[in-house]
Amino acid sequence: MTSVTLEGIGKSFGKTEVISHVDLAIESGEFVVFVGASGSGKSTLLRMIAGLESPSSGQVLIGGRDVTSAPPSERGVSMVFQSYALYPHMTVRQNIAFGLKLAKAGKESIAEAVGRVAQMLQIENLLDRKPSQLSGGQRQRVAIARAIVREPEVFLFDEPLSNLDAALRTQTRMEIKELHRSLGATMIYVTHDQVEAMSLADRMVILHQGRVEQVGPPSELYHRPATAYVAAFLGSPTMNFLSPERIEGAEALLASGERIPLPQGDWGKAASVGIRPEDIEIGQEGLPATVEMVEELGETRIVHARLSDGEELAIRSRELSEEDRNSKIRITFAPERLHLFGKDGRRLEAG
Ligand SMILES: Nc1ncnc2c1ncn2[C@@H]1O[C@H](COP(=O)(O)OP(=O)(O)OP(=O)(O)O)[C@@H](O)[C@H]1O
Ligand SMILES: [Mg+2]
Repeated sequence: MTSVTLEGIGKSFGKTEVISHVDLAIESGEFVVFVGASGSGKSTLLRMIAGLESPSSGQVLIGGRDVTSAPPSERGVSMVFQSYALYPHMTVRQNIAFGLKLAKAGKESIAEAVGRVAQMLQIENLLDRKPSQLSGGQRQRVAIARAIVREPEVFLFDEPLSNLDAALRTQTRMEIKELHRSLGATMIYVTHDQVEAMSLADRMVILHQGRVEQVGPPSELYHRPATAYVAAFLGSPTMNFLSPERIEGAEALLASGERIPLPQGDWGKAASVGIRPEDIEIGQEGLPATVEMVEELGETRIVHARLSDGEELAIRSRELSEEDRNSKIRITFAPERLHLFGKDGRRLEAG
C-alpha cells in the first residue's frame, strides 16, 4: 500500500509558471481525480508524479520515500495514457508481457500474469490479435492490462477514456472503478470530464491555472463549493449566479427591485448569489421570469428563463415544454440551497 505526497510542487517551463506550490497528500488505496479546464496543469502534475517531468521546486514522495529525482522505473508507478501507445507489430499477449520481459521475469510467471490480467479485463480471446485488429475500447483495455500486469502500487491515468464513444466510456469507467476495488491500489486519474471525475473519485482535486482550487469528496465539492470557480465548474448546466445590487438584512435586492430571501446570517459581503438549476422551483409566487427556451434532455428539461432585470437562469424542470416559450413564470429558491460568494469569489458562511 502506497501513499503519494506532493510538497510545495512548482513547475515552470522557461519563464512560464504552470504549476504553483501544490501541496497534496494522497492516501494509500485512494482514488483521486485531477480535474480542471484544458491547460490547468493536470497532465503536468501527473507527469511529475510519474517522473516524466521534474518539478522546478518541491518534493514528490511515494510510500514516504522521496522520489523527486528518481527515474520513472524506480517509482513503482504505472501510467495509462490517452493514446494507448501499444506496439503495433506485437500481439496483445506480447504487448502485455513486454514490461515483465524487460524486468526479466520467468516465462512461466509471465504467462501466468498475462492470463490473470487478461481474464480480469475480459480480453482472453484477443491475446493473439494485433492492436490494429481491435476496437478502441479493446485497445484501451489492453493498455490497462499492460499497466496492471506489473502490479504497480500506484496507477496514473491521463484521460484514458477520451478516445472512446459515450457507451464504451461509461462501461470502461465502471471497469476501472471495479479494478480499483479489487486491487486496492492507489489511483490518480486525470480528466476534464466532470461526470467521469465525480463518478470515480474518492476525492477530487480541482486545478485552476496551476493551483489547487479545492480538494474533497465529489458531493462536498458539488454541495459546498469553496469558490465560485468550483461552483461554476461542476454541474451541467452550470450554477446560476445573480449579482444583487445590495444586501438588506436577510434579503438580496436585484436591480429590478425584486427580493431574494437568504438564509439567516450576515451576508453584507456577498457579491454574488448562486443557485443550481435543480434547486429552482417554478410556481405561483416568487420572482417573475420569461421562458426563452426549453431544452429536452430526455430524463429532464432545461428551461432557460430571463428575469425582469435581464439576468438569465437555467432551471431543471419537467413541468414546462417548448410550447411554453415566451410565457411568464414565477420562481422561488429555497434559501438553504443558495450559495453566497464574496468579491474575491470565496464562499461565505453564515455568521
Ligand atoms: N513541455 C512544455 N513546454 C512548455 N509549456 C508546456 C509544456 N507542457 C505543458 N505546458 C504548458 O503547461 C500548461 C499546463 O499543461 P497541461 O498539459 O498540464 O494541461 P492539462 O490540464 O493537462 O490540459 P488538457 O486538459 O488540455 O490536457 C499549459 O499552459 C501548457 O501549454
Ligand atoms: Mg492533459
